[in-house]
Amino acid sequence: MRILSIETSCDETAAAVTEGRKVLSSSVYSQILLHKKWGGVVPSIAKKAHQERIDLVIKDAISKSAKNFMGPVKSFLSVSARHGNHDLRAVGNPSSLATHKILSYLFNEIDYIAVTYGPGLAIALEVGIDKAKELAKKYNKKIIPVNHMEGHIYASFAQNSAGSPKRPFKFPYLALLVSGGHTEIVLWEDYLKFKVLGETVDDAAGEALDKAAKLLGLGYPGGPVIERLAKSVENKDFFKFPRPMRRSNDLNYSFSGLKTSLYYLSKDSNSNFITKNLEKLASSFQEAVFDSIVIKLKKAIEQTGVKNIVVGGGVVANKRLRNLLRGLVKEFKGDVIFPPQKYLCTDNAAMIGVAAHFKAEAGILVKDLKNFERQPRLSF
Ligand code: KG4
Ligand code: ZN
Repeated sequence: MRILSIETSCDETAAAVTEGRKVLSSSVYSQILLHKKWGGVVPSIAKKAHQERIDLVIKDAISKSAKNFMGPVKSFLSVSARHGNHDLRAVGNPSSLATHKILSYLFNEIDYIAVTYGPGLAIALEVGIDKAKELAKKYNKKIIPVNHMEGHIYASFAQNSAGSPKRPFKFPYLALLVSGGHTEIVLWEDYLKFKVLGETVDDAAGEALDKAAKLLGLGYPGGPVIERLAKSVENKDFFKFPRPMRRSNDLNYSFSGLKTSLYYLSKDSNSNFITKNLEKLASSFQEAVFDSIVIKLKKAIEQTGVKNIVVGGGVVANKRLRNLLRGLVKEFKGDVIFPPQKYLCTDNAAMIGVAAHFKAEAGILVKDLKNFERQPRLSF
């Protein structure tokens, strides 16, 4: 089953072609530079950028995937060459006649179109959904609706086109999702059976890192720069910021108080304070966020007895967090798995395609195109 997937829930315009868990191609246009000067994602800018790029990103993903089923494409190209269309590079030019011909040929090789329908920014999600509907009608395909967070969970099971890594499923898992929009612990009982055990009551972990970076004058996104500064002082905890909600027995998180502590500490100190202590502040803040994550995940393991952890979301790109999580599961003789490549941590469409495969196998398809709409607050 070959799937073209589309993802536009936030600030990455992405498309991919997958076959089961295998990623045949993945194309991501990151809008980070467009949002950088605003210190965060601006929905109207995201929408416009998605609209401008979506066709190219889809064409890029489809044409790159074609080498995996090159046999039929080659014979098609030899026929089309006689008519003056020479190679797949023509696909890069959206207005050429060759592009239309080659694309409709390649769409014959695609079985379904998958699209993220939530959670995310309403006007950004809309761009992907409208495009999926347009292509579904044009090429007579069915749509598989995918929850963005399911995608982040399945990202750890994505494989390259040769089927590596193998990673058989060993349910149940605890899924830890840590991104710019979400922080949650989910009990993943079976392919399509998810139960949210805890979530943030205010900011997400990535959002907290982004806000701290802004306060420290480090720009957007904050996660990678904070990671680098923290590493330069060996990830030590100098300022001992609070670990919010650590004593509560539920599995919820709260990060907004942490940001307030950083704000008052920097505000009450003299003007050189931030510059002098930049690395120490970044490292201490990161430790407070990650320690809070680990404290609640430990509680979740103790409460459920589930020791195998799957981690997803942009913050998982962070090596310090990975090491802390490895340490945690070692205590319980469990296992922790991360997305096999860095691009699978942050937003991408390959993870949407992998999740979509299991939904299509279960017959979860959009029945009524007209009433298929974005769900910005979609939950599990
Ligand atoms: O999953 P994602 O790409 O988008 C959402 O769905 O939110 O996550 C983006 C978040 C941002 O908050 C960014 O600061 C964070 O992931 N992030 C990191 C790192 N790389 C990205 N956080 C910590 N360390 C990193 N290396
Ligand atoms: Zn995401």
